[in-house]
Amino acid sequence: MQKLKLSVSESLFNKLNSYADGHGLGIKDISEMLETPPDPAMGDFALPCFKLSRALRRAPQQIAADIANGLSITGISRIESVGGYLNMYIDDNYLPGIVDGIIDAGDSYGSSEVGKNKKVVLDYSSPNTSKPFHIGHLGTTVIGHCLRRLYEFSGYECIGVNHLGDWGTQNGKQIVAFKRWGNKETVEEKGCDGLVELYVKFHEEAEKDPSLNDEARAEFKKLEEHDPENIALWKWFLDISLKEYNITYDQLGIKFDYYMGESFFSDKMEAQINIMREKGLLKLDDGASIVDLSEYNMPPCLILKRDGASLYPSRDISAAVYRKNNFNFDKCVYVTSAGQSLHFAQWFKVMELMGYDWVDQLVHVPYGTVSINGAKLATRTGNVILLKDLFALAIEKVSAIMEEKNPNLPDKEKVAEQIGVGAIVFHYLMNTRSHDINFILEDALSFEGNSGPYAQYTYARASSILEKAGEIGETAGITAKEETELIKILAEFPVKVQAALADYEPSVIVRYILDICSAFNRMYHGCRILNAEDEKVKNFRVKLTRATKTVLGNAFNLVCMAKTEKI
Ligand code: ARG
Repeated sequence: MQKLKLSVSESLFNKLNSYADGHGLGIKDISEMLETPPDPAMGDFALPCFKLSRALRRAPQQIAADIANGLSITGISRIESVGGYLNMYIDDNYLPGIVDGIIDAGDSYGSSEVGKNKKVVLDYSSPNTSKPFHIGHLGTTVIGHCLRRLYEFSGYECIGVNHLGDWGTQNGKQIVAFKRWGNKETVEEKGCDGLVELYVKFHEEAEKDPSLNDEARAEFKKLEEHDPENIALWKWFLDISLKEYNITYDQLGIKFDYYMGESFFSDKMEAQINIMREKGLLKLDDGASIVDLSEYNMPPCLILKRDGASLYPSRDISAAVYRKNNFNFDKCVYVTSAGQSLHFAQWFKVMELMGYDWVDQLVHVPYGTVSINGAKLATRTGNVILLKDLFALAIEKVSAIMEEKNPNLPDKEKVAEQIGVGAIVFHYLMNTRSHDINFILEDALSFEGNSGPYAQYTYARASSILEKAGEIGETAGITAKEETELIKILAEFPVKVQAALADYEPSVIVRYILDICSAFNRMYHGCRILNAEDEKVKNFRVKLTRATKTVLGNAFNLVCMAKTEKI
């Protein structure tokens, strides 16, 4: 489709040149001006002539009519001028070639080399060890990974970093709780759940006895001073947490290149502090070191605590410099909840003031809050929904449905896991990233609605048709409007990939998947495929089914959803 758009732009360019001087447009400008009319009845491409009106000193209606006059473009069957627009309709004979192109490209259809020789670091998921890995982290985990896949698909080299929150008072709290109420056997047996129980218990007890908070600070201080007992406990807790995170990451097909958390940067501030001092940026405030940002309408950025220990922003600054020096990225993307937007704005500004001229390569990608079935999340109490529990619940519900619908399905546990996890991811990513969402589990799991299971079911339907069809011979051309519609949607994939990336917006891909599914299902219900009226027509529809499966599969890969051959 991009090819066609380009040749359309070229023809328009030639026509404009012979029509009037001084239009000032290049082929690329024209291609960018081309719109896709909201209603397909108005054509597949439209050139709005309003923008030309001034330069050519003629009315847009006149310009459109004059350009249309005598114009013919390969691949375009009809050209009309309507109300200042030049509307163009793709020739049905052009479309089968698009289907062949998709099938030939296969797994690489939609990919590009836009990012060739460019490197992107993605900082995502990054849970806080000792605290529960709860559904507040769903966003960073799946948006982050989806962006990674989009970048890779577009030819960028990617480095995924898990910036674990493994260094803070919460680790002191964990140590206090373990020393007071925990024992090795229980924690070993219960894993992360055991750690979360202790963390919750700490907060309940600290409500009654606030001095526990001082104790936690003291234990963290000891940790910072490398007290061997605390270091050993901290490492042990970290191992337990990582083991469990990996179960969730495996379910999502996520692998990080580096686990490089805050602890790694806790003592790497010195060079940065020196720069801040030299530039006169550091100020003492009640013993702590801060950078005043009032000039930029932001509260001060906290750099060092009174005892000289590093803080969240200062660790982020060291991490950014470390990554720049070691990975030499062209872009470093941070995915976190919108609650951290100020934090990022502050330390980005501090880096700018420090003179780092690459600070504009740092991008914060925020997302909205999640509640489940109306319930808000609270991290400090027992009222948290863990990510693994949400996945487990979804898998359990899908298993029950499948037990009813298709009890003899081979490998059904695996399929239930793929659908359950896919359902959560898909439902979550369907929303515009910045919106706060209320997650309704029933909607996510519905096989009928706009959901992951519905998309995976459509994929399995395509697989089954292809399996039954076997090898095919010669094909007919377009014979039904459902075919035309489907091909035009499949043709949009490369543009959708770039649009999703431009806005850091996975929902573009998820909604596109739904568009494909409904167009394919319209063909499935509206036209006969395997028992079509004519062998060649059947063959063409089978081919179109293969192209659909290819595009759906490639899009599923981008949003961390498994390709389910059989449901
Ligand atoms: N650990 C933080 C949290 O759970 C997120 C870290 C994000 N990355 C960063 N470089 N600050 O909220």
